Amino acid sequence: MPLLTDRFGRVHDYIRISVTDRCNLRCVYCMPEEGLKFLPHEKVLSQDEIVDFMKIMVQFGIRKVRLTGGEPLLRTDIVEIVRGIASIPEIEDIAVTTNAMYLAKKAADLKAAGLTRINVSLDSLHEDRFRSITRGGRLQKVLDGIKRAEEVGLFPIKLNVVLIKGQNDDEIMDFLRFTQNKDINVRFIEYMPIGHAGNSWKQKYMSLETIFERIREEGLEFESVESIRGNGPSENYRLSGAQGTFGLIHPVSAHFCANCNRLRLTADGYIKACLYWDEEMNIRPLIQKPDELIELVQKAIDNKPENHEMALKLQDEVTSHQPTWRRMSQIGG
Ligand code: 5AD
Ligand code: SF4
Repeated sequence: MPLLTDRFGRVHDYIRISVTDRCNLRCVYCMPEEGLKFLPHEKVLSQDEIVDFMKIMVQFGIRKVRLTGGEPLLRTDIVEIVRGIASIPEIEDIAVTTNAMYLAKKAADLKAAGLTRINVSLDSLHEDRFRSITRGGRLQKVLDGIKRAEEVGLFPIKLNVVLIKGQNDDEIMDFLRFTQNKDINVRFIEYMPIGHAGNSWKQKYMSLETIFERIREEGLEFESVESIRGNGPSENYRLSGAQGTFGLIHPVSAHFCANCNRLRLTADGYIKACLYWDEEMNIRPLIQKPDELIELVQKAIDNKPENHEMALKLQDEVTSHQPTWRRMSQIGG
């Protein structure tokens, strides 16, 4: 069996690297209003450490990378990190997930450094609502960032829309219309109970079935579309006649674990084989010891559970493993 394969035959060729736990926003589903205690600078992996780590990982089959945060564009060396990873010959795809506040400024440099694609988090198309969901974000900056990313050829652009009951579910059709004249992929994501205390999550969670209901109510037609580059766990559709597509990612209501091909690296150097569970392993001390490093990564994969069991939280049932203590901004989504 090739390395980076788990007990269930899942081959891992994709890694999401959180390059910082800091963020300039405080999205309601991701971070508490008062923020979090951020890692001190010396606890965060350096540009060289990240690139050296990737040079090892490609020898074991990793081909795709996504840089996440917090907000990855807050790192002053983000362009250099992208350049370093993109110049590793085995890498086929390097993408960034961003809140786009600084995207207009950085898109051209990121593209020139070898970035292939970009995902933008955007949960409302109304200025005031966007500001309240992100606790301070400016919608126009995101739209300018998207425009700039298109101009420089960061393609295809994906929008991440976390569906939040009572907060943006009345905008489903607006987001779908956004795909009509634009070759963009709008991905609706179920709100996940990561790092939330109590029931605040359950009250805001909505299953994505609502999307189909809304489309039907509008009397619109849609069709299923095959593969979209880098589409991961999203199932994709197109409104009849639309240029762009929309995708549904249901981590909670449907199993998306069966084909999970991903690993995660936190900004402080911990490998997480599963987004949801508490298990993680510190690889930072091993970056200059490739044999030991890969042994530890494989151990993390060997322990990877089959599923995440997020849905059990809807029924307040106890899960088989301990959920992670980290908030989403400390994992990178
Ligand atoms: N549930 C679902 N998605 C989340 N994200 C962050 N927190 C959550 C959550 N609780 C996603 C957002 C953002 C990406 C960085 O992570 O869609 O685009
Ligand atoms: Fe920041 Fe992204 Fe989390 Fe929003 S979702 S607080 S933009 S890391």
